[in-house]
Amino acid sequence: MEYKRILITAALPYANGPVHIGHLAGCYLPADIYARYQRAQKRDVKFVCGSDEHGVPITIRAMKEGITPQDVVDKYNAIIRDSFADMGIAFDIYSRTSNMTHHETSQAFFKKLYDDEVFEERESEQYYDEEKNTFLADRYIVGTCPVCSNDNAYGDQCEKCGSTLSPEQLINPRSALSSAPLVKRKTKHWYFPLNKSEAWLREWIVEGKKDEWKANVYGQCKSWIESGLQPRAMTRDSNWGVPVPLPDAQGKVLYVWFDAPIGYISATKELTPQWADYWCKEDTKLVHFIGKDNIVFHCIIFPSMLKAHGGFVLPENVPANEFLNIEGQKVSTSRNWAVWVDEYVKDFPGQQDVLRYVLCANAPESKDNDFTWKDFQDRTNNELVSVFGNFVNRAFVLMHKLCGGRVPKLHEDVMDDADRLLIEEIKSAKTRVENNLESYRFRDALYEVIDLSRKGNKYMQDKQPWIAAKTLETQPENQKLIDNCLHLCLQLTANLAILANPFLPFTAKKMCGLMKVVDRMLEWENAGRIDLLKVGYPLPAPELLFRKIEDGEVAAQVEKLHNNLKKSQMENSSSQIPSSKVENSKEQGPNSESQIRNSVESAYLPPKPEITIDDFAKIDLRVATILSAEKVEKADKLLKLELDLGYEKRTVLSGIAMHFKPEDIVSKQVTVVANLAPRKMRGIESKGMILMAQNLDGGLVFAAPIERADNGGEVR
Ligand code: MF3
Ligand code: ZN
Repeated sequence: MEYKRILITAALPYANGPVHIGHLAGCYLPADIYARYQRAQKRDVKFVCGSDEHGVPITIRAMKEGITPQDVVDKYNAIIRDSFADMGIAFDIYSRTSNMTHHETSQAFFKKLYDDEVFEERESEQYYDEEKNTFLADRYIVGTCPVCSNDNAYGDQCEKCGSTLSPEQLINPRSALSSAPLVKRKTKHWYFPLNKSEAWLREWIVEGKKDEWKANVYGQCKSWIESGLQPRAMTRDSNWGVPVPLPDAQGKVLYVWFDAPIGYISATKELTPQWADYWCKEDTKLVHFIGKDNIVFHCIIFPSMLKAHGGFVLPENVPANEFLNIEGQKVSTSRNWAVWVDEYVKDFPGQQDVLRYVLCANAPESKDNDFTWKDFQDRTNNELVSVFGNFVNRAFVLMHKLCGGRVPKLHEDVMDDADRLLIEEIKSAKTRVENNLESYRFRDALYEVIDLSRKGNKYMQDKQPWIAAKTLETQPENQKLIDNCLHLCLQLTANLAILANPFLPFTAKKMCGLMKVVDRMLEWENAGRIDLLKVGYPLPAPELLFRKIEDGEVAAQVEKLHNNLKKSQMENSSSQIPSSKVENSKEQGPNSESQIRNSVESAYLPPKPEITIDDFAKIDLRVATILSAEKVEKADKLLKLELDLGYEKRTVLSGIAMHFKPEDIVSKQVTVVANLAPRKMRGIESKGMILMAQNLDGGLVFAAPIERADNGGEVR
């Protein structure tokens, strides 16, 4: 198919927190590279995105921060928008799903499906909070876990034993909003019959996209389709979202995964009066860039909605990436294990392209990948600085030294095989980069760019124009050899600017400045040409394109990660709503995602920095026995323990009240950090700390001698 226009979308991020580098690597950076490349090809491109401002992820964040959902989206929309702009993610529009156009567009979409009798209406019984007058999503419901009797299990999961739950399974369910006991009420919702889409989805994806879509995307779709699709509720009981446009739907909003993807359409509408060309004409190439957790919504649910509505194009491709881990750990926003884009921009001013480079070179295109600060430093210093930057710099320095600061002539009569080979390399690099970009292989494409500069370095090294320069007195004709070498190196530099431009736009612009050419030179059709810089053109002195990343800078970042983690652990232990809830806050409700598929977050804490034996020896660890235990008033989490350390008795406060009943732990032996500085909490002085082992699901186990030991005995 000859496409006339390209519509590129990038997943609308939830406006419930800043974006981190995993977001960039997963979706926004590849989308931006693709858009920049297509623009350089002078194709008709629109690149749309915006904030996803509805759904439980927003209301949970509001509850956690103690502000309104509106405040949440206003705050984070601004932060996210600025982060993208700072990183050079060049959307044609960055919109918001809270605006009028979007409300109207998504309501009209819903109304059309309703009028066409696409939906099935179903009544079900859902938990209702009579104090707050609201139905509750799964994670707003707490109660006793049927598996481990934890009193604070959530409607979707027990944090103590890790069981996946549904609200129905909780014993004595109560509201997390008001603590009121819950009643069941009938509620009506509108279900989209995904089951009816199965046949055409099978034909369109399972049969049609096997060789076109990435294996990770195709595989997920196939398994969803083959395991059977169920009707899915497209409405929710909530007061935050797009109101359901029906007379009998008070207190109901569109399901966030119904309205958000329509946000792509609303954003295009805001962008251009020609929006319908991009959405409705068959010769539009629609490409959705997303992370892997969004695959089912973009490949199955949204296309089914579009098809049921009629008149829309379907995505030509959905090149979803996998996840980027940080220093060997899964990104965790609740544990603050992440590299935040707004902070990177502050910590590394002017270094956007360096991050773009590392994230693309190491993109999780086919499997989860790891970002480490060491790798960030190595790639910057060994590839961008030593290969790419060094080549450009040497070409300029030598041109000034050996060619009078002007672009030298190419003397055809003395051209040799090495020159001709380099010209071939320049031409074929264009094709290779292009082919990779057209098939969404961004890493490979970027590799070809760096590889071309590597070839330039090698060419220069083989030619050694500085040696020829020493012979000029006796062999003046050697100037021609010098000229040819630097002529080609400079033309290669111009080509590098064009090819690198989609990936490293700030650098490409800087290179245009260096070469005193207008940005139009960066148009893709110019790649492969070796007449981009005019002979005799005077060029300014070189400026370094990149700087080295120092050891201290990356060490500071690693330390920052660990400090953030520590801080978040302290904050989380004092908060009412576990923030892991915010993190995994995928939409809940009738047939929520958690009921369909569950992802378990890796909870291993990263290793701590090394200590010496002397550091360790400072800790006085002792065996003790719990003589008595009681709850501390107004402190849900604390137990007051009397301990027998043999040589003395003392009081220790321990934050284990959510995990153990006082009567169950009396006479247990424990390990105590006996020389910890005393600390006063709730008016009680705590002298020391008992050691607990934490399970991955958050559950606690006493870290104590497994056989009876003497109280006061040292643990070493
Ligand atoms: N907000 C969703 C997320 O962050 C993505 C929404 S993509 C859209 O996972 F298509 F719904 F807009
Ligand atoms: Zn449990």
